[in-house]
Amino acid sequence: MKIQLAIDDLTLEEAITLVTVIEKEIDVIEIGTPLVYQEGMRAVTTMKKRFPKKEVLADLKIMDAGYYEAKMAFQAGADYVTVLGVTDDLTIEGCLRAGKEMGKQIVVDMICVKELEKRIERLETLGVSMLAVHVGTDQQAEGRRPIDDLKLMKRCCRLAEISVAGGLSLDTVSEYAQLQPQILIVGGGLTHAKDPGETAKGIRKKIKEWE
Ligand code: 5RP
Ligand code: MG
Repeated sequence: MKIQLAIDDLTLEEAITLVTVIEKEIDVIEIGTPLVYQEGMRAVTTMKKRFPKKEVLADLKIMDAGYYEAKMAFQAGADYVTVLGVTDDLTIEGCLRAGKEMGKQIVVDMICVKELEKRIERLETLGVSMLAVHVGTDQQAEGRRPIDDLKLMKRCCRLAEISVAGGLSLDTVSEYAQLQPQILIVGGGLTHAKDPGETAKGIRKKIKEWE
């Protein structure tokens, strides 16, 4: 299982410092949506140049202009870009086309998708091979967690790799790891940890128990 560090509310400089400390324990560096708003594609390019051996995901949450926006992220150096599952199939297809051209991957974020089962089937038919279960920050504030959607996703996916995000932390990561998603996404649980180095080691250790 991979660990994806989601960097949302740090500056680019703070983000680089954090990744330097926990580099060994993480597999994917996510340039989170707020960081993209703050710094633009520069954040993607800088992070990829600074950590060339790490995979970089641009969490653009694309909703329209799929081909154009996905290509922009890939050209900036992203290995993965996110598109929203609630959007039109045409946008998903545009992202897929950009990924194919550039030899990169798209991840469909299933945040706010109502009929999850039906949408998973359709997305897999379109050729999507990476799906993300996600309970967003605002929903987390209302007490929602992604565990039930992850269970459903595990049951319904035929081929796609699954990632999961939404408030994962050192205390809860085992619960998710035992369901065997391919990628566990941790944002605030690492970026706001008192000791990110020790926390990242702890998360890696807990995940290993389920591999
Ligand atoms: C919010 C996001 C976050 O990056 C994702 O939810 C992971 O962060 P956290 O672990 O703090 O929930 O995309 O829309
Ligand atoms: Mg994110």
